[in-house]
Amino acid sequence: MVYSEKVMDHFANPRNVGEIENADGIGEVGNSKCGDIMKIYIKVDNDIISDVKFKTFGCGAAIATSSMATEMIKGKSISEALKLTNKAVMEALDGLPPVKVHCSVLAEQAIKAAVSDYYKRKGIDPEPIVGCIPECDDCACH
Ligand code: FES
Repeated sequence: MVYSEKVMDHFANPRNVGEIENADGIGEVGNSKCGDIMKIYIKVDNDIISDVKFKTFGCGAAIATSSMATEMIKGKSISEALKLTNKAVMEALDGLPPVKVHCSVLAEQAIKAAVSDYYKRKGIDPEPIVGCIPECDDCACH
């Protein structure tokens, strides 16, 4: 399997690994295709994602895409973060081998789950804003 240099870099030196104490939102999702798990923590100040960290029991492609995805949403508004697609993350990494595309979905879904959790903690129904998250067990929509 051939990985781009960017994928190798983010796999070897993943950015934003860890957890955030007193996070404002935590999202955990499982990949239905392989059983891997991803957890993302966000800190939110005035609708801006001021910090984000992730932990995963996932493959190298999941680590690289999460690393890139967290870099792409850090400092962005919640609405911008919700627009991040796994396709945009893959493009930023110069592509993934086709059999690894499903791995990139984990990061996108975990970010959405963390934002959902953030709204839930504020007493706001997240579904009209975030939508249904297919890989999220906490979502009431499936
Ligand atoms: Fe499970 Fe990549 S094989 S996330």
